[in-house]
Amino acid sequence: MSAQNLDQLSSFCKSAGFVYPGSEIYGGFANSYTYGPLGVELKQNLKNLWWKMFVQQRADVVGIEGDIILHPKTWKASGHVDGFNDQMVDCKACHARHRADHLVEDNVSGLDCEGMDNEEVARIIAEHNITCPNCGAMDFTDVRQFNLMFNTQMAKTVTNDGDGSGRVAYLRPETAQAIFLEFKNVVDTQRVKVPFGIANMGKAFRNEITPGQFLFRRIEFEQMELQYFIHESDWKQFYDEWKTQQALWLEVIGLNTDTYRIYPHPEDKLAHYAKKAEDIEYKYCFGTKEVMGLHYRTDFDLKAHQEHSGTNLKYRDPSSGEKYIPHVIESTWGVDRNILAVLNEAYTEEKLEDDSTRIVLKLKPVLAPYKVAVLPLMKKDGMAEKAQEIVKSLGSLGYIAYDQGGSIGKRYRRQDEAGTPVCVTVDYETLKDNTVTVRDRDTMEQKRVAVEELSAYIFGTYYSS
Ligand code: GAP
Repeated sequence: MSAQNLDQLSSFCKSAGFVYPGSEIYGGFANSYTYGPLGVELKQNLKNLWWKMFVQQRADVVGIEGDIILHPKTWKASGHVDGFNDQMVDCKACHARHRADHLVEDNVSGLDCEGMDNEEVARIIAEHNITCPNCGAMDFTDVRQFNLMFNTQMAKTVTNDGDGSGRVAYLRPETAQAIFLEFKNVVDTQRVKVPFGIANMGKAFRNEITPGQFLFRRIEFEQMELQYFIHESDWKQFYDEWKTQQALWLEVIGLNTDTYRIYPHPEDKLAHYAKKAEDIEYKYCFGTKEVMGLHYRTDFDLKAHQEHSGTNLKYRDPSSGEKYIPHVIESTWGVDRNILAVLNEAYTEEKLEDDSTRIVLKLKPVLAPYKVAVLPLMKKDGMAEKAQEIVKSLGSLGYIAYDQGGSIGKRYRRQDEAGTPVCVTVDYETLKDNTVTVRDRDTMEQKRVAVEELSAYIFGTYYSS
């Protein structure tokens, strides 16, 4: 049985040490979470896999690490200062703040507020007698636009279009823009030729009004983004190629095609920068929702930055001599939503023969926080020392768990919950013939393997592909 709802999944994540509610000792902090000791390993493994697959293993992609705070003009050029808004209302009775479009869409079936102005949304709220989900009152402020970018004050004056003080800067709401800012530097300093891509990953910040859904909607989250620069005439070919790459990624992290669907954005609802866009929507236990996206951004961004910065961002084709602003296929991954999908997919409850239930996290080995767990049956008679030796010998496989506390059955269960693909048990037979018990997480089958063959056996069985 898989995860039934988000409460079940989030409480498992807390008890196993994957994700804790943020600032919990202060009563919590909306939309904020901490990756615990197992979660941080899972996340690191996911990001490393992505970087390896889309940067290091491709001759046509390079990476950068852009700053969180970029020149404020960046966000004017990108359209975020003027257009990155949600519609909000406040309840006059309890002062709770709501996304106005969500209030409508949650209460009036079949209505989509995309493209509606504030007055239209307010009129629908009134017409349908929609009440505050927090207190039940039917008394709202006017609907107004709320910019999702967090801003901050610089110590020194910078030119900007913020509040007129000249000191406003923004925390980036997407990692994509640093890539456009560095396009010229990469072309001038690296041996890249269109078509080629630039990747950037890291934190992004959005002042989300609607709280919730665990890791799905956070105010501080991570993105892995790749802008692929092409000649306009090739956009369809590369759009399809990156669609294939995204499907491949989902397979590699353990999401089969029946766990997600593609949602093409209708033409009249495309973002201002996009000519074609699709979301990949995973079937989370709380609904089918966007996990990542693919956008044909045309030459919108480079053109806008050229115009706002006054810097020539044209590319010169070395073979034909043609000078043009490249077009862009953007692949964008939300790290946290990928993690949530992976956890949702891996979480399994199994009824065992003795009628007990085991929770097992069937993670792909490459993502598992611990690669192997080594467990001495007893601490005495040299078993603990032998187990420690084995931990050292397996170190090249990655992070190895060592656990000597409690019954062996309980220790297996702990590793099942951590998603550890394989456990190695040192027992009395080990002391006699230098073999160990190797237990598979998913089948629970056990076999004996000679210690000198252990590393090769585990690598070959779990980590060679
Ligand atoms: N550069 C394009 C871009 O940022 P987006 O669809 O707004 O596009 C990309 O965001 C991805 O970032 C989404 O597919 C999602 O996985 C993730 N994301 C967006 N907002 C998020 C939030 N508040 N919390 C967690 N992840 C979020």
